[in-house]
Amino acid sequence: MRVAMIGTGYVGLVSGACFADFGHHVTCIDKDAGKIAMLREGRIPIFEPGLDELVARNCAAGRLDFDTDLTRAVKEAETVFIAVGTPSRRGDGHADLSYVFAAAREIAAVAEGFTVVVTKSTVPVGTGDEVERVIRETRPEADISVVSNPEFLREGAAIEDFKRPDRVVVGTEDPRARSVMAALYRPLSLNQLPLMFTARRTSELIKYAGNAFLAMKITFINEMADLCEQVGANVQDVARGIGLDNRIGAKFLHAGPGYGGSCFPKDTLALTRTAQQVGTPLRIVETVIAVNDVRKLAIARKVEKALGGQVRGRTAAILGLTFKPNTDDMRDSPALSIIHALLDKGMRVRAFDPEGMDEARKVLPAAVEYGTGPYDVAQDADCLVIVTEWDAFRALDFDRMKAILRQPVLVDLRNIYVPDQMAQLGFVYESVGRPV
Ligand code: UGA
Repeated sequence: MRVAMIGTGYVGLVSGACFADFGHHVTCIDKDAGKIAMLREGRIPIFEPGLDELVARNCAAGRLDFDTDLTRAVKEAETVFIAVGTPSRRGDGHADLSYVFAAAREIAAVAEGFTVVVTKSTVPVGTGDEVERVIRETRPEADISVVSNPEFLREGAAIEDFKRPDRVVVGTEDPRARSVMAALYRPLSLNQLPLMFTARRTSELIKYAGNAFLAMKITFINEMADLCEQVGANVQDVARGIGLDNRIGAKFLHAGPGYGGSCFPKDTLALTRTAQQVGTPLRIVETVIAVNDVRKLAIARKVEKALGGQVRGRTAAILGLTFKPNTDDMRDSPALSIIHALLDKGMRVRAFDPEGMDEARKVLPAAVEYGTGPYDVAQDADCLVIVTEWDAFRALDFDRMKAILRQPVLVDLRNIYVPDQMAQLGFVYESVGRPV
C-alpha cells in the first residue's frame, strides 16, 4: 500500500518507518526543509533507540522517502496520516488544532481516488468531525473518509510498541475505510493483533482516557509514597502487593518525582478542558494534574532534607534531565521544576544527562552548569540527585563518588538503589516512599 505521513515529529517518523518495515511504501512529509534534508542524509532529528537503523534499512530498500511537499505522495496514497503536533494552546490548555486543519485542507486539495485520512495526532473528541467538515468545505467532491487511529507509543520503546502493540484502535464506521485500515495493519495480525474498531469519537476518547488513567495510576502511587514516608512503610512493596492483583496490574506503579513528557501533562489538561466545556468536569483527572504539578516542585525539598536544611551556596549534582530514560525529550520534565526550585533556594546546580544535554541547554536557566559524566558533575558537589533512571546511573562506583563529593549525600528520586546498602556505604540517602 502507499502511505503518506504528514509530520516527521516523533509519532510520524516512528510510525512511517514501521509501516515501511511492514512492506508498505511510505513518504514522510514535513514543511521543515532542514529536517527533510537531514532525514534524506540518513540523520535522525530525535533520539529513539533503533530508529536510525530502521530508517536506513527502509530507505535503502526503496520503501521510505521524504518530501517537503505533500502533493505527489498524497495523490498516490490510499492512506494519508496526519501526525502533526497538537501543543497545548497558550492560555486555555486546549489542544491547538491549527496544524491538523491546515494539513486537512492541503490533503483535500490534491487527493485522488478513494483516500482514507487518518488522524494519528492526539486530538480532542469531535476533531474527526471537524477535519471532515474542513475537507468538505475545501473540496466537496473529494472521495475521502476520515478515521481516528490514536498512537500508544512510549518514547524510548516506540518501535517495540508499534510492532507489538497491546491493541490497535481504529475509529470509523465506514466499511470502505475499515477494510483499508485492516489491510494496512495486516502484517501485525500474524501476531494475533487485537485490532479494535469503534466509532470515531470513541476512538478519540480512548486515547485520552488511557493516558489519563496511567497518569492517575502514577499519581496514586506517588501519594502513597508520601504516606509511606509518614507511617514507615515501603512503597515498592505496597506497589508489588497491590500490583499482583490482576485487576490492578503491576505496571505504572513506580513512585518518583512526578510524571512529565510530551503526552501526559498535555493530554490530561486537554481532556479536562473538553469535559468542562460539555458540563461534565472530570474531577479525578483535575486533581491528578494539580497533585502532580505540586509534586514536581515539592520534591526538591528532599534535597534540603538530605542536606540538613542547609542548601544556600551549596552545589547539587543532577544526574538525568530528560523526563525519562532513552529519550532526549525535556518537555515537562520533572528536572525543570526541581532545578528551578534548587536555584531559587540559592543552590549551585551542575547537571549531566546521557542524551538530553542539547535540549536541556535550550530550556534550563543559564545558571546551570553542565558536566561530561556522573563523576565530573559530582566534583566538589554537596549532593548527588538522581532525577532520571538512565542505565548509566544504575551501577555508580560509590567509593569513587565518596572521594569526589564534598559530602556523601545521595537523593535518589527513582528508587534505583537500596537504602540499607547506601547506609553501609556511609551515604546519607533519601529516596521516595521507603524507610531509611
Ligand atoms: C505515554 C504513554 O505511556 C504512551 O502509551 C502514549 O502513547 C504516549 O504517552 C503518548 O500519548 O504519546 P511517554 O510519555 O513516552 O508515553 O512515557 P511514559 O513511559 O508513559 O512515561 C511518562 C512519565 O511517567 C515519565 O515522566 C515517567 O518517568 C513517569 N512514570 C511512568 C512514573 O513516574 N512512574 C511509572 O510507574 C511510570
